[in-house]
Amino acid sequence: MIPSRSLLTGLLALSTSSFTAALHSRSIIPPEGCPIPTWTVSTFHWYNGSHSLDCIHNEVDRNTQGCLCGRAWCDPNPATCNGSMVNVCWTGMPNYEPWGYGPKQTLDIDFEDGLTCHDEYIGYRIHDIAHGETNCGYADRGAGRIVSFYGSSNEASSTGHMDYTLGSGHALKCANGSSITYYGSVDFPLTCTHDSYFNATCTAPVFEIPVLDYSWVS
Ligand SMILES: *[C@@H]1O[C@H](CO)[C@@H](O)[C@H](O)[C@H]1NC(C)=O
Ligand SMILES: *[C@@H]1O[C@H](CO)[C@@H](O)[C@H](O)[C@H]1NC(C)=O
Ligand SMILES: *[C@@H]1O[C@H](CO)[C@@H](O)[C@H](O)[C@H]1NC(C)=O
Ligand SMILES: *[C@@H]1O[C@H](CO)[C@@H](O)[C@H](O)[C@H]1NC(C)=O
Repeated sequence: MIPSRSLLTGLLALSTSSFTAALHSRSIIPPEGCPIPTWTVSTFHWYNGSHSLDCIHNEVDRNTQGCLCGRAWCDPNPATCNGSMVNVCWTGMPNYEPWGYGPKQTLDIDFEDGLTCHDEYIGYRIHDIAHGETNCGYADRGAGRIVSFYGSSNEASSTGHMDYTLGSGHALKCANGSSITYYGSVDFPLTCTHDSYFNATCTAPVFEIPVLDYSWVS
């Protein structure tokens, strides 16, 4: 019996996609004599409150004024404010949890090799959490390492994405003395729980970011 055309197409699609999946979950073989890193995320924790201040994506927050009284926030009523009414999104505000706002957004990514990434919404030196670059090893940021995270905290389960650029400042030495640096990328399962206020706490199982590419550093 000759299988129908649609069955054949289906089988082909199936084998192509499993082939692709296998490719993406495996690291490349490095050039001969070169070491290759292993990037394993051991802890992933993202808190995004339903009332966390968001001066990047939330138009209402960007236009909101608060009462800054000394180093704290007081009732934002212009008639009773004993400090000054200021835009809550101005840079340098005390802690970015103005009156009426819930706990600030935080992101923690810890790697098995000791690299830790911590972001919190504090207004200055802000990374746009879940939209790209995270704050990994702030002290050696000049070395070019960039770990980026993309995802949504609005669904109970979804797919997060992470990119890892090792950077030329962290290049590894091959046996013949050449320096090499690497790049990796992965999709991973993201699980979020929401409390009765829709505050989201998102986690991920331990996962590895496969090394997918390299470049020479001169
Ligand atoms: C070192 O080895 C790599 C790969 O084996 C090669 O591409 C590179 O050109 C070599 N470097 C030198 C300085 O010979
Ligand atoms: C402003 O008033 C609030 C009460 O409304 C008080 O808690 C706060 O200490 C006052 N701050 C200053 C700087 O007087
Ligand atoms: C959840 O959100 C509410 C409203 O913003 C806030 O008062 C509360 O502290 C938050 N709870 C937690 C556990 O973050
Ligand atoms: C963070 O939480 C807010 C409030 O629930 C939501 O509107 C926003 O989309 C969330 N951010 C991301 C990147 O999922």
